[in-house]
Amino acid sequence: MRRWLLQAFALVAAVSLAACGARGGTDTVDGGTLHLSINQTAEHPMTVALKGMSEGLFERTDGRWTLVIHPNEVLGAQREVIQLLQDDIVELAIVNGSQLENLNHDFRVFNLPFVFDDIDHQMKVVNNPEITDSLYKSLEGLNINVVAAYTGGERSLYTEQGPINTPSDIQGMKIRVQETDTNLRMIRQMSGSPTPMSYGEVYTALQAGVIDGAENNEVSYVQQKHYEVAKHWSYTRHLIIPDYLIVSHKMLERFTPEDRAIFDELLAKSVEDEVRLWNETTQEALVTMQEAGVTITEPDAEAFRTAIEPMINDSLTSEAMRELFDKTRQLAGGK
Ligand code: GCU
Repeated sequence: MRRWLLQAFALVAAVSLAACGARGGTDTVDGGTLHLSINQTAEHPMTVALKGMSEGLFERTDGRWTLVIHPNEVLGAQREVIQLLQDDIVELAIVNGSQLENLNHDFRVFNLPFVFDDIDHQMKVVNNPEITDSLYKSLEGLNINVVAAYTGGERSLYTEQGPINTPSDIQGMKIRVQETDTNLRMIRQMSGSPTPMSYGEVYTALQAGVIDGAENNEVSYVQQKHYEVAKHWSYTRHLIIPDYLIVSHKMLERFTPEDRAIFDELLAKSVEDEVRLWNETTQEALVTMQEAGVTITEPDAEAFRTAIEPMINDSLTSEAMRELFDKTRQLAGGK
C-alpha cells in the first residue's frame, strides 16, 4: 500500500516540478511545490511551526512557492524518507539526530546521553553556526543539507510493567530504541535489552508484547498514544536529541538569492516558534498522562547517570567529535 502511494507520489512530484522547470538542473527557479515529510502528528509542535513557515513562504513569495507538509509518516519512516530526499523526490524532511549519526558519526555528539543539560543549553548549541557549520554541511555530497535544528525534548523511559526506579529494574526488558549503536549501547548500560525499530511500529509492538517499553519525550508518548499500552513513565531524562530539518542540496541551490533569504528568515522563526510550542505541548501532555492514570516516577537519577556515563567518553572516537563535545559543554550553564 505504502509502496503504491510512494510511486504515485514520486510521479506527481516529478511532474509538478518539471512543469515549472525545476527538476534536472541546478539553475535557479522562482517557484514550485515543495514536499516536506515528518513522522509526527499534525498537532505536534514541529509540524505546527513548519505549517507557519509554509504559510509565510506562500505569502512572502506571492504564492510562487508552496510547501506541502506530509505528517504521520505517510511518506515512510525517517530512514526511508532520507533516501527519497537524496533522490530529490521529497525536498524537505524532519529527521532525528540518530538517523544522521548513521550517515556521519560526528552527529553522534549531539545524540549522547547528558550532553545537554536542558533544552535551553541544547538550543544555544545546535543552531550556533560557529559550532555546527561544517557538521551541517558535511552531508552535501549525499544531497543533504541540514538547515535547522529543533528540540525533541527530554527523553525518558516508559514501560508496561513498572515502576522503574533504578537501572536494574529494566533487566530482561526489551526496550525499543532508534536505530543506532549509541542508543543500543545506552539501554545495555542501563541493563535492558535494546530493540531497534522505527517510530511508527512502536504502538503495535507494545500492544503485541513484542517489546516491554520504549523511551521518548512526553509529547510523543501522548500523541502516539503509547500511554494507552505502557502506563509506567519514569523521568530518567537521559537524552535531549535534536531533530533536524534537512533539505535537498540541489533544491536549495535552485532558490534565487532573494527567495533563499526569505526561506532562511522563516526558518529561524520556525525554530523559535517550535521551542515555545514545545513547552506548552509538553505541559498539555503531562495533564493527559495524569488524567489517563499513568504512573509517573522520579527514579534514582544518580544511579542512571552512573550506569550510562562510561559510554560518553568511549563514544567520542575522533578529534572532531571531541572538539564538538568540548564546545557543547562549554556552553552549559553553571555546571
Ligand atoms: C521523537 C523525535 C522523532 C523520532 C522519534 C523516535 O518523537 O522527535 O524524530 O523519530 O522520537 O523515537 O523515533
